[in-house]
Order: sequence, then C-alpha cells, then structure tokens
Amino acid sequence: MALKHSCCILSGAAGAFHPGLAPAAFARASSWLAHVEMGPPDPILGVTEVYKRDTNSKKMNLGVGAYRDDNGKPYVLPSVRKAEAQIAAKNLDKEYLPIGGLAEFCKASAELALGENSEVLKSGRFVTGQTISGTGALRVRAHFMERFFKFSRDVFLPKPSWGNHTPIFRDAGMKLQVYRYYDPKTCGFDFTGAMEDILKMPEQSVLLLHACAHNPTGVDPRPEQWKEIASVVKKKNLFVFFDMAYQGFASGDGNKDAWAVRHFIEQGINVCLCQSYAKNMGAGGTEDCDSPLVFQPSSQRAGMASTILTSPDLRKQWLQEVKGMADRIISMRTQLVSNLKKEGSSHNWQHITDQIRMFCFTGLKPEQVERLTKEFSIYMTKDGHISVAGVTSNKVAYLAHAIHQVTK
Ligand SMILES: Cc1ncc(COP(=O)(O)O)c(C=O)c1O
Repeated sequence: MALKHSCCILSGAAGAFHPGLAPAAFARASSWLAHVEMGPPDPILGVTEVYKRDTNSKKMNLGVGAYRDDNGKPYVLPSVRKAEAQIAAKNLDKEYLPIGGLAEFCKASAELALGENSEVLKSGRFVTGQTISGTGALRVRAHFMERFFKFSRDVFLPKPSWGNHTPIFRDAGMKLQVYRYYDPKTCGFDFTGAMEDILKMPEQSVLLLHACAHNPTGVDPRPEQWKEIASVVKKKNLFVFFDMAYQGFASGDGNKDAWAVRHFIEQGINVCLCQSYAKNMGAGGTEDCDSPLVFQPSSQRAGMASTILTSPDLRKQWLQEVKGMADRIISMRTQLVSNLKKEGSSHNWQHITDQIRMFCFTGLKPEQVERLTKEFSIYMTKDGHISVAGVTSNKVAYLAHAIHQVTK
C-alpha cells in the first residue's frame, strides 16, 4: 500500500558564527552595543575552567560534553582522518555548492537515517538539505515552520530538553510548550505523564522528539512505548520533529538508534528529521565558516561525511569505530555500578546502566555534588548530570568510592 506522507531531512555540516566586529572597530562602535547584556555563563564550560586550576592528580572532569578515549584524551576517528586525506589528495576546487548542499552527502544521510530499503526513499517522497551542523538543521527548519506552516506555531519540547532547543525555537518565533518526559523519582522516562500531555496537545501541533539518546537525561522510550506514542501522534495529527544527534553513538548500532524514526515513517506520519554528525563522526570541531541561517552550504565537512558514508570500506570502519566509542561508554556505566556495589552502596543505581549515551542523570543532589568536588576533586554540574565519557578504566573505582562516600 502506498503511504501518502513525506519526510524532510536537514543534515548538519559544521559552521562558525561571528558576533560582529574586530576588536579595534569594537572600541569605536561600542555605543551601538553598550546595551547588550552579558549572556549567562555556560555551566559546563565553567566546570572545565575550575577543573583546569585543580592540582589534585586524581581529579576528574565529568562536565565535558565531548567524547574522550580511555586515557581521557580527545579522539579523532581514524576513518575521519582517512576520509580527510582522501579528499586532500583529490585537490578539489573551492567552488560554491548548490544552495541545497552536496547532493551525495544529502542522499547518503537520508539512507543512513531511513535505511537503504526505505519505501519513502525509493518512491522519492522526501526532501533533504545540508545545513551547518545539527544546530543549523534545527534552526533552519524551525524558521521554515514559523514562516510556512498553516496550522500551529506551538512546539512541544520534552522537559527537560537540550538547552539550545529553547533559544532555537523561540528565536525562530515558535511558541514554546513542554510535555512531561523525565521522572526524577525513578531517574527514568515518565511514560504516563508524557502520554497524558501528548493526548492533551491541540491537533496539528509540532512535537519535538529526540530520536535516540535523549539529551540531557540519556533516557529513551522503549520500543513498545515508542509504538504507543506513534499511534497517539497519528490519531491527533501532530507534526513530528525528530532531532537525531547520536545515531550509532547511542547503542553502537545505527539501525537500532534510528528505529523510532523509521517506525513513525512506516506508520504514515509526516516527520522532519534533523541529523548531526558532530558526535558520531567526532567532528564537532571541524572548521568551516558560513553565516548563520542564510548561507551557502560548505563542502569540507559534508565531503568528509559523504566520503565515509559512500565508500564501503570506510563506512564499515567508521561503523566499527562508532560502536567502539558507544561500547566504551556502556562499559564505564556497568563498571561504575559494579564498583558502587563493591563499595557496599545499598542504593539502586540501575538508572546508570538503563540510561544511554554520554550523559547520565545520576540523581546526586547539589550538596553531594559539592562534596564530590571539594573532597575528591570530581567536577560536574550541580544537577548531578555527568558525562560518562569523562570516566576512564583507571579512575572508575575512585569515582565509585567517592560517590559512595557522599551518598551513604
Ligand atoms: C539533542 C541534540 N541536538 C542537536 C545537537 C547539536 O548538534 P551539532 O553539534 O551538530 O550542532 C546536540 C549537540 O549536543 C544535541 O545534543
């Protein structure tokens, strides 16, 4: 049976944003900007600054938002290095790309997300565009909805959601609403609350869902829960906005991580999907330069990603490397829980292994976090949110010991 629905995908390649002026010009023109208030400090970068000044050799930084290897060092995927070398050897020109981006990158991204056998792909009922990383994809799409959607300007975000979702949708002119998602009592998914709230949403509202590895909680619905969400979404004719920033990086299996997106599409639900390669290709810091929102897509990072995705050997290698990163995180979670048990902790730490991806909502209280920092030089944000990527084999026992000391 032909399904009468479509799918729009925006895929990210990196970018840079310049607030405006060179320092010399700034002094002269400062009265133009004197009224601009300093934005709030970034809680995660603030943690890193204090950590750097600590001289304790056992110190741990669990606030870093990027992957680290088992020595605590930044990791460049060998497949990414190979792809970059291949592109450099081709000596390509630096011509502008078409406004929609690099065609092979867009095609390969859609296939990665929806699967090669996707009926929507085969019948061509989708549109893909290249943007500046995942953030650019979200921003361009939010702006598009605000401008062109006939129905609602309401967008429902999970509570909590990745911090940048709020300014992205707000600044695009959408009206922000929330639905229940995280249950602090169980450190898990509030399925009942989420379903109640989704049922109450006005028809034709926009519902934002994290495709996998919900940021910041690491808590995802189970497949049977996704199925129930999809059936309510369909009944209420909601428009689904999937944010997929961690495909392959969540479970180690790209198909498994894209399961929810594929399920919704198979049910005939219209979706918009924003993809990012910043985490699964470890390419958050690749240099590109575009102006935000209205831009000419750049070829450097998209070329690297499409080289990996379209070359069978490199793709295989990349998938293994992503799995390696995901497996290391999963193993740190398991080791942390088993070390807590060895320490004699009687608390239920199952949420640490149930949650997925780099971040973990530990359930630690602000005063416990304060003690971890003061007494053990373990740094994290006050809400007890840690990056498991900051845990290494040689320090996981120390971390478990410290957590036990402040929670017993
Ligand atoms: C849920 C979510 N969406 C989007 C992004 C942004 O991705 P990018 O770094 O590619 O802009 C992130 C990055 O942390 C994220 O966690």
